[in-house]
Amino acid sequence: MRIYHLSAECYPVAKVGGLGDVVGALPKYQNQAGLNAAVVLPYYNRKFVREHQFDVVFRASNLLGTKRYEFEILKERDNVLGFELYLVHIPGLLDREEVYSYPDEREQFIAYQLAFLDWINWSQQTPDIIHCHDHHSGLVPFLLQHSALYKRISKTKTVFTIHNGQYHGAFSWDKVGLLPEIDMASAGLLEWNNAINPLAAAVKCCDRYTTVSPSYLYELTKQSNGLEYLFYLEGQKGSGIINGIDTQVWDPATDKMIAANYSLKKIKDKEKNKQALCERFELSTDKPLVAFIGRLVGEKGADLIAEAFGKSVNELGGQVNFLVLGTGEIDIQDELKVLAERYPESCKVYIGYDEELSHRIYAGADFLLMPSRVEPCGLNQLYSLRYGTVPIVRSTGGLKDTVIDFGDENGYGIRFNNASVNDICYSVGRALSVYQNTEHLQLLRKRMMALDFSWNQSTNQYIQLYKSLIPNL
Ligand code: ADP
Ligand code: GLC
Repeated sequence: MRIYHLSAECYPVAKVGGLGDVVGALPKYQNQAGLNAAVVLPYYNRKFVREHQFDVVFRASNLLGTKRYEFEILKERDNVLGFELYLVHIPGLLDREEVYSYPDEREQFIAYQLAFLDWINWSQQTPDIIHCHDHHSGLVPFLLQHSALYKRISKTKTVFTIHNGQYHGAFSWDKVGLLPEIDMASAGLLEWNNAINPLAAAVKCCDRYTTVSPSYLYELTKQSNGLEYLFYLEGQKGSGIINGIDTQVWDPATDKMIAANYSLKKIKDKEKNKQALCERFELSTDKPLVAFIGRLVGEKGADLIAEAFGKSVNELGGQVNFLVLGTGEIDIQDELKVLAERYPESCKVYIGYDEELSHRIYAGADFLLMPSRVEPCGLNQLYSLRYGTVPIVRSTGGLKDTVIDFGDENGYGIRFNNASVNDICYSVGRALSVYQNTEHLQLLRKRMMALDFSWNQSTNQYIQLYKSLIPNL
């Protein structure tokens, strides 16, 4: 079964967040299960791209509105990632360093999608499934079915996975000219709230859509930035499949980025990672270390952290240490810098993106906080479970589906209900009491590290979904 995954991110080529992790892992696991899955990514000017060999497999030109652009499809020569990787190279439009946030982002992703469709069409390929991820490839299901250009492949089945329903990639009808010729009678399928909305168009036109956790499937009908009614209407096409993690990349027993390797059997060596981390950040090792890793945005509850950590330091008399790794909104970054200045003994903040440091924190911290307002799945808590670090999470989306509170049978984490300073502080207090009971902490670590959140189970669910669309295969 031939599958093309279309995504704006794919680890280790280009990662901004969890989307990159998922698209860097799922196709590999699908191939191990006997599928033939490939990834098609925009060409960014990135280290991985510069350091690997690519061959041009297709070259053509196309129109974006009235502007003609040349494009190439490049194929990575050695399949180093465990799947075929293709890059859509559009000089002057896509070959930049950052993945997102350019003023011509709409043009970038429309051109990327058109180049993909042209390549598949003109090179006479007939994939079984085109699997689109988030709004960056959300126009593909519509264009396949409603542009005469792609008539040959119009029956190709499409699956659309929603990693984040808050972002829609919407743009005004003034820009409809950027699209190729479409059947205007179907143009309504592109629309939501008087704009062209690629996320909505994908949900309407795909054969099946998935969310990255079962709880998030339901939550989209309650909170999706204006698309709630659409998700209610299209609900019968949706299913929730929880993300897995790449257990080869994320394995404390073999991880080359951490200070000391450890495993369920050699759990004590986790402490060496705490020592190394605390040394680096000049924190004392005898206190529990609560960490946060992530995008510093309201969605992640990052705006609550500075106040909650400051309050905890005061209320608990400096018995807990805190470490933040993140980058994002300037106001939040500034609040965190002030926190670190005010409590230099207890609070450390690293503003920036650092993959290696993130591994060191998952390994070295005792607790990992995720006070997310919205969390479609969340991978941080899964990495922290794998590294024996107790997750402290708000009960929402994928956090709710993957973390059981230690107060419940066989539980291992800490859960709270409200994205509020008070709930965070209360949970930090519970973390302190867990830490003070060494036997209990060891029991929780063992429970967490024995869990299996590898991709194996979820890969099977995706395969079942594909098979339901093409039963004769
Ligand atoms: P999201 O995709 O919404 O940001 P996820 O929990 O799915 O959230 O995934 C976040 C991923 O990005 C994880 O792999 C996490 O370790 C990583 N990450 C986030 N911020 C940073 C950072 N500042 N430095 C290194 N890794 C980060
Ligand atoms: C999104 C979500 C996150 C999820 C990730 C991978 O970025 O915010 O919760 O884990 O995608 O699916």
